[in-house]
Amino acid sequence: MTSGSSFYITTPIYYPSDVPHIGHGYTTVAVDTLARWHRQAGDDTWMLTGTDEHGQKMLRAAAANGVTPQEWVDKLVGEAWFPLLTTLDVSNDDFIRTTQERHEEGVKRFVQAIYDRGYIYAGEYEALYCVGCEEFKPESEIVDGTGPFEGLKVCAIHSKPLELLQEKNYFFKLSEFTEPLLKLYKDNPDFIRPESARNEVISFVRSGLKDLSISRSAFDWGIKVPWDDTHVIYVWVDALLNYATAVGYGADETQFERRWPAFHVVGKDILRFHAVIWPAMLLAAGLEVPRGVFAHGWLLVGGEKMSKSKLTGIAPTEITDTFGSDAYRFYFLSAIAFGQDGSFSWEDLSARYQAELANGFGNLASRTIAMIERYVEGIVPPPAAYAEGDLEIQKIVADAAANADAAIERFRIDEAIAAIWTIVDALNGYITENEPWVLAKEDGDRERLGTVLYTAAEGLRALAVLLSPVTPIATEKLWIALGAAESLGRLVDQPLRAAGSWGILRPGTSVNGLAPLFPRVETA
Ligand code: ME8
Ligand code: MG
Repeated sequence: MTSGSSFYITTPIYYPSDVPHIGHGYTTVAVDTLARWHRQAGDDTWMLTGTDEHGQKMLRAAAANGVTPQEWVDKLVGEAWFPLLTTLDVSNDDFIRTTQERHEEGVKRFVQAIYDRGYIYAGEYEALYCVGCEEFKPESEIVDGTGPFEGLKVCAIHSKPLELLQEKNYFFKLSEFTEPLLKLYKDNPDFIRPESARNEVISFVRSGLKDLSISRSAFDWGIKVPWDDTHVIYVWVDALLNYATAVGYGADETQFERRWPAFHVVGKDILRFHAVIWPAMLLAAGLEVPRGVFAHGWLLVGGEKMSKSKLTGIAPTEITDTFGSDAYRFYFLSAIAFGQDGSFSWEDLSARYQAELANGFGNLASRTIAMIERYVEGIVPPPAAYAEGDLEIQKIVADAAANADAAIERFRIDEAIAAIWTIVDALNGYITENEPWVLAKEDGDRERLGTVLYTAAEGLRALAVLLSPVTPIATEKLWIALGAAESLGRLVDQPLRAAGSWGILRPGTSVNGLAPLFPRVETA
């Protein structure tokens, strides 16, 4: 991608029927890291997140708590979903709520447009519905219940009984899009990533698509169908449209032109909505399809998908209160191959925090700054002639930066971090080998000492820039400790795709004391 190009990226909009757990936080920090990377690389970046506030699930959550659905979503969004973004240091550009007027107006406009184009008709429907998924379930996702639900049909994801619904509905002619969608996947092999997700969707679509019920008349917590106010629009159609209404679909053409189409990052639970229904809706409206859909895996707790409905949800603050937001971000993004499932455990989190952040990166930063203070009066020394080992570090830094950027283009944040970590490991080895504490004892070794300390400090400069999208707080502290803020400007303004060039940190800069970036954590 060339610098300056548009990069619009979204998270799913979450159901505020309940409070967020670490699964929601996982998607959000992944998208934030991708957005920060592109923004810092100079791309015209826009990150959207938000909440999905209509539908039966919400109606029931509100009723169970004795308030109206609007009161319920206002409370949950204000007290839990907005704060999540602060807890995790998320740099979103916008937050959409589907109860906002800009959204409701846009949805009506869109649904009317595809109705006018002949893609909607009225019909009768009877099928099994899962309120947890807000979806009529296909045969393949219906299983026999166990325990208290013995003898009932339950949802394969939620393990809760399905409800038989029979209504007059409006239908979207999804079946007409089987061939256009297969062509889209074929012409654009990166449309669905990773490969496993792409294959799953292709085989699903190949088996043939049925028309989709897109309205409900049994309750009214939703957006009214423009030509029939006895129906509300199906919550998934309403929700998917957030990606377009948030950037001015039908209202602000300049903004829409500038941003659309988007990249969507979602959990694999909602892949089909994004990779099948959503592009079909856009094709029906004559709009551009998304640039891509990336489906990541599930966080597993005790081998099962972590979820609130199964009472295995862990609040993000349980982690950040002890380890901090940087550790949260680093842990989930580095420990799990993006696109695959990953098991969460406190032991794994603590072990990686200690080994990689505290002992690996944090200690490298502390001791480099401390040696510059102790051996060269706190001033970044000029390098003298570079020897082979120094040039090797320069090559590792250049390769790491290029490989990390290439990995980010593939949405493989885990691989980007692994590439960047080659710098941490190489610099720790380099310091051990070059023994600056020995060089500091001999007057004759001053030049060599300068080269070694410059190499370590300049390597840290590259690390600060490359890791700032992942761990924004620690890298900011490091940036200030390196004295780089005064000579080079703000960390977030350092061009990411030039991070691997050598010799950017200026000799003569004063360093500043650095408290441990990742302090020891007492684990019970
Ligand atoms: O589905 N592991 O909202 P939702 C990883 N409103 N990610 C997880 C996860 C887990 N165990 N649990 C949840 C909805 N997630 C709809 C979306 S979009 C137009 C409408 C994350 O609150 C993951 O991103 O159920 C998943 O896709 C999303 O939360 C589902 O959030
Ligand atoms: Mg869900």
